[in-house]
Formats: sequence, structure tokens, C-alpha cells
Amino acid sequence: MPGGGAVALALRLYGRELIRLRLLALPALLLPAVGNIGIRYIAPLLVAKLAGQAAADGGLTLTPALPYVLGFGAVLLLAEVVWRIGQHCLNRVGAIGTEHLYVLGMDELLAKDASFFHDNFAGSLTKRVLSFGRRFEDFVDTVTYRIVGSLVPLVFGAVVLWHYEPLLVAGLLLMIVLTAAAATPLIRRRQALVNDREAAVARVSGHVADSLTNMETIRAFAAERREAGEHRSRVAESRRLTLKSWDYGNLRVDTLVAPMSVLTNVLGLLVAIAFGGPGQGVEQIVVAFTYYSNATQIMFEFNQIYRRLENATTEAAQFTELLRDPPTVLDPAEPEPLAPRGTGIRFEAVTFAHEGAKPIFEGLDLDVPGGARIGLVGRSGGGKTTLTRLLLRMSDIDEGRLLIGGQDIRRLRQSDLRSLIAYVPQDPAMFHRSLRDNIAFARPHATDAEIHAAAAAAHVTEFADQLPEGFATLVGSGA
Ligand SMILES: Nc1ncnc2c1ncn2[C@@H]1O[C@H](COP(=O)(O)OP(=O)(O)OP(=O)(O)O)[C@@H](O)[C@H]1O
Ligand SMILES: [Mg+2]
Repeated sequence: MPGGGAVALALRLYGRELIRLRLLALPALLLPAVGNIGIRYIAPLLVAKLAGQAAADGGLTLTPALPYVLGFGAVLLLAEVVWRIGQHCLNRVGAIGTEHLYVLGMDELLAKDASFFHDNFAGSLTKRVLSFGRRFEDFVDTVTYRIVGSLVPLVFGAVVLWHYEPLLVAGLLLMIVLTAAAATPLIRRRQALVNDREAAVARVSGHVADSLTNMETIRAFAAERREAGEHRSRVAESRRLTLKSWDYGNLRVDTLVAPMSVLTNVLGLLVAIAFGGPGQGVEQIVVAFTYYSNATQIMFEFNQIYRRLENATTEAAQFTELLRDPPTVLDPAEPEPLAPRGTGIRFEAVTFAHEGAKPIFEGLDLDVPGGARIGLVGRSGGGKTTLTRLLLRMSDIDEGRLLIGGQDIRRLRQSDLRSLIAYVPQDPAMFHRSLRDNIAFARPHATDAEIHAAAAAAHVTEFADQLPEGFATLVGSGA
């Protein structure tokens, strides 16, 4: 579970997006609420007035009723128009906000230190960064439809009820507050059960992924039955915890809310009857009935509002928690221009330790003159790869200096430094792109002739020319 700081950061970034898009976000948030006022409160009010009139006149003919009926239709139509405009804005806020958050998330990841990717799996990072963008939509929908869309009309309803009878407002608000207070601990408890359930689901998918990636080993040890048994037991656990959380919602939370809602509605009707002034009894009863039944719906929504907001922010926070440690390998504030004198490399009293590990180099001095070819020999894990990665500033050294052509690499721009080095990593790297794009990765504007020459030097042409699509063939393992 991400900490409170990460949740706050997620909320801040989502809030910043709403402010950035305020010209769209304001109508997106408010217009559905205005539409709801028309549909849930103004239209019933007209019906109540009609009923009151009918009761007063001992029946109704079309002529006096017509203005109400027309007004009723106009209000509903207008509410629909307002809703559509609000929805139109909301779609844009969701889409543009998500787009911007995807970009922001990837920019943050591209700025991370190389060691960050050593400690985090690409699969989990992918899920986190994409959820961070996508959850913005859930967040905005919940705030729009369920919070603003319910609370603003509720305030409107309260004002209207006040004109009929202040006690109607007092009773309604009191009951809503009481229900919210009583339901909150149950909703929290339910959320804990939901977390248990999600953890069980994650254990199922973790095991499935693990088995699928190691299928060869499972076959070799004839372990299919054992794996299937493990899968069955994890799925059963997931089912047990899922039912537990659903039952809690149905049997505990809603069994508290339901009687409170019934009680509130009955109370509203009683107050309307008892305090109805002469001549407005019928109208007041209809208003109280419709307004109360609309308003009490919100009692059933507490649970969902809490759950949706919590889900959206927790998922977003799983990404923002990664942003709390800022990158350490940075360009200097005033980088030196690239002006190496020669290609010699010097390590001067270099000390370096991977995070949380013992130093792998202590006071290392090494001089590689320009033009020299050297090979590093040593046991596995001795630090050969680390030495070359330090030269690229994949990590920064703790003490000493590292010079190329007499320039301290820490005083250079990272892109300038890396432009000096042709790095062939120990593990082959392959993007899920065309063969041509892979070969030209270091020089995207390379000509076809240059790409061919490089391929020929690496004996790639020998098989590339056999491929039906040649250098346009997609290689690497993509999603
Ligand atoms: N990003 C990292 N974070 C933490 N520890 C690391 C990281 N990269 C390497 N190490 C550790 O640093 C040590 C040196 O690793 P390195 O890869 O440099 O060895 P090597 O000499 O290249 O080994 P090999 O011959 O197996 O390629 C090892 O103990 C390794 O586990
Ligand atoms: Mg190595």
C-alpha cells in the first residue's frame, strides 16, 4: 500500500490537471449537477404544484394544466441539453487529462536513474505508469457524477424544502449525516476486505505469469500437476476473499443503510403531513416524497464514492510513490562544452558502491591512453560491467574523478558524454521495432548504405536478406 505522501501527490497532480483544463473542467463538473437539479428537483416540483392545484380545484382540466405540462417538458429538455454539454466537456477533460498524465509519467520515468530500473520490473512499471494516466478518468467521473452531481442538487433541494417547512430540511440532513457516520467504519472495514481480495487476485496472476514464463522447466520436471494444484488453491482463495468482501457490502453496509433510508423517507412524509399548511398539503406531500426519495439515494452511494475514490487514488499513488525519490544522475547547472583533448580515459581514486551494498571499487586508479584496446578480466560479479557503466554515468561515483580526454564527465551534459561512447551492452538489446530501426538506434538518420554496412560488419545481412521483409522485419519481443 502506498503511503499518505504518495496519495497526496497523486491528488495534487490530478488537481493540477483539473486547474490546467479549468475552462473545460468547470462546466464538466457543474453542468451534470445543474441537469440533475432540473430532472430530480424542478420537474417534480412542477408536478407537485399541478397535484396541489388539482386538489384545490377538485380536479383539473387541460387549459390550466397546460403551462405546467409545457414547463415540465421544457425543464426536462433543457436538463438533457445541459447534461450533454457537460458530458461533452467531461469527455475532453478525461481524454486530454489522461493524455497529459501519460506524457508526464513517461517523462518522469525517462528522467530516472539507471539503477531505478534495476530495482523495478518493467512489467510492473508499465502497469503503474499507465494506471496513473487512466485512473484520472475514474477520479473525474466520480467527482463529477457522484459527488458534485449529488451534493449540488441536494443543496438546491434543501433550499426548496426550507420554503415548505424547515423541519423537512433538518430531518433530512440529520438522517444523512447519521447514516454517513454509522456507515463509515463499516465501509473502512469493507475496504480492508477489498484489499485482501485484490492481494489474492494478484497472487493468482503472479503465479500464472511465473508458470507461463517457466513452462520449459515445468515440462522438464513433469511438474504440471503440481502447478495446476497450486493454481487451483490460489483461485479458490481468491474466490473466498471475493465473496467475503461482496457479502460484507451486501449484508453489512447495505443492511445498515437500507433501514435508515426507509426510516428517513417515512419521516419526511410524516413531517409533510403534520406540518402541511392549509391548502398546500398535497403539494407539500408530493415534494417531500420525491425530494426525500431522491436525496436518500445518496446514502447508498457513500460506499461506492469511497471505494471509487480510494481505488483511483491508491492506484495512482502506486506510481507517484516512485516519484518521491528524485533522480540523482543529473546534468550540471552550467555544463562544460564538450572539448576533449584526445580519447584517453582516467579513473582517479574512484570509490563506488551500489546502493545498500559494500563498495565495489575503493580508490581505484586506472589510466587508459587514447587508442589503447583493453580487456578487463575478472570473476563474475567482479565489477567489469559496472566499470563501463560508470563511464557512461549510468550511476555516479561516490568519490574521485572520472575523466575522458581530460574532461571530468560530471561537468558534461549527459547527452554530450554519451555521444563520445559506442556502448555494446553485455546483454543483447532488441526493441520490438524493425531490424532497420534497431540497427540505426544510435544514429536514427543513418542512410540505407550506412545501415547495410553496419549490418554486413556484424554478419546480420547473412540472415536479414533471407527474410521476406528484409530490414523492415519486426524483431524483438513486444507486447
Ligand atoms: N544496478 C545495480 N544495483 C545493485 N547492484 C548491482 C547493480 N548492478 C550490478 N550490481 C552488483 O554489482 C556487482 C558487480 O556486477 P557487474 O555486473 O559489474 O559484474 P561483472 O564483472 O560484469 O560480472 P559478469 O562477469 O557476470 O558480467 C555484482 O555483485 C552485482 O550483483
Ligand atoms: Mg558483466
